[in-house]
Amino acid sequence: MSVLVIGAGVIGLCIARALHRRGYGEITVVERGLIGREASWAAAGMLAPGAETLAADEHYRFCAASNQLYTPFAEELLDDTGVDIELNNHGTMFVAFTEEETAALDGRYDAQSKIGISVERVSAAEARRAEPNLSSNIAGALYFPDDRQVENRKLLKALELYARKNGISIVEYVEVTQLAMNGNQIVGVIAGDRTFRAELTILATGAWTSLIKIGSERMPIVVIPIRGQMIAFDGAAHLTRRVIYSSRGYLVPRRDGRLLAGATVEDVGFEDEVTVDALDSQRIAAEEILPGLKGQAVSDQWSGLRPYAPDSLPVIGRIDGIDGLIVATAHYRNGILLAPITAEVVAEIAAGGTPDLSVRAFSPDRFSTTTRSAAK
Ligand code: FAD
Ligand code: GLY
Repeated sequence: MSVLVIGAGVIGLCIARALHRRGYGEITVVERGLIGREASWAAAGMLAPGAETLAADEHYRFCAASNQLYTPFAEELLDDTGVDIELNNHGTMFVAFTEEETAALDGRYDAQSKIGISVERVSAAEARRAEPNLSSNIAGALYFPDDRQVENRKLLKALELYARKNGISIVEYVEVTQLAMNGNQIVGVIAGDRTFRAELTILATGAWTSLIKIGSERMPIVVIPIRGQMIAFDGAAHLTRRVIYSSRGYLVPRRDGRLLAGATVEDVGFEDEVTVDALDSQRIAAEEILPGLKGQAVSDQWSGLRPYAPDSLPVIGRIDGIDGLIVATAHYRNGILLAPITAEVVAEIAAGGTPDLSVRAFSPDRFSTTTRSAAK
């Protein structure tokens, strides 16, 4: 079967790989810009179902299941491409500074431990023994031993190499504007004066998904961009072994010595500029958490547009009444984490399978009556 994957972010590239591994021979990925340079490139790479979710709902289970897939996924990518995606298993330390933040962590601990999420309560002294460069002003912490992180830019490199080595075509600088229809069947895509035909089309177009037309109609899916800005400090990763999370931001150490600090959550449309305000507030928050950063210059600043649906859940599946199309978008703050499981689910749907009940909560059909709303 011929397949078109529109969008070469982590989601599109993972789906292309999953389909190739299942024997699909004719796969083409069509990308508006350069491969892997949008949200997936901007991300912090945390695999943090503990620190980044609260309830034991479908979304948490999806996140936790994808986290489990990462160990074999990283090993397979290393074998297949020689690229080490730097899976780091040191867990996340979620710190509190004020009484209010401590109370919020207590509530989180009660809710999460009750439902079996791996979370440990840690005193300020214990947290500082584990991470000696943490501020002496912290009041307490939670530790999530199962949370991890990867170097998402290496992940994109590995997925690109996998595609190139295995005959998956990648077409860059081609913007799809419309899905081509024949009756209720999607038969490919239209990009300017070019048409690409395929039996199956997969939309993995991130924050831009709602801009694409289905035939002459609007896309019946609401996805908006939510900007995230981040900064980095060179040569500062030695200040923490673990990812440090807090209500004021997070810090992520990288093997190349960079320490990343992020991220803003801004509803500013498709504006992807970086701002001085974000740089200042992120530097101040980072220094508050790790005072050893004081005086250290910010070496880089960037931004990305997270794909966000109004209920903050991913959008994965077929659209009722339309054949030959699968959508996989709106992974919002967890697209790196959710890429392996999304690819598995899409491959299962492509093969005619029905996703289980929890994945059906992410169905594109839930948008028939929703409207745009602000991000949380
Ligand atoms: P993208 O990477 O944006 O890819 C979509 C691609 O589709 C783009 O390359 C785009 O050019 C292309 N495209 C769009 N429209 C068209 C078209 N019409 N024609 C052709 N191509 C098109 N997630 C985590 O799991 N952990 C984190 O720590 C984390 N941190 C983050 C920090 C920041 C600052 C940001 C911004 C995001 C973060 N995320 C994180 C979220 C994660 O980055 C996203 O959820 C994920 O990258 C979405 O992947 P994607 O492939 O859907 O989107
Ligand atoms: N998951 C981190 C972020 O979206 O900022």
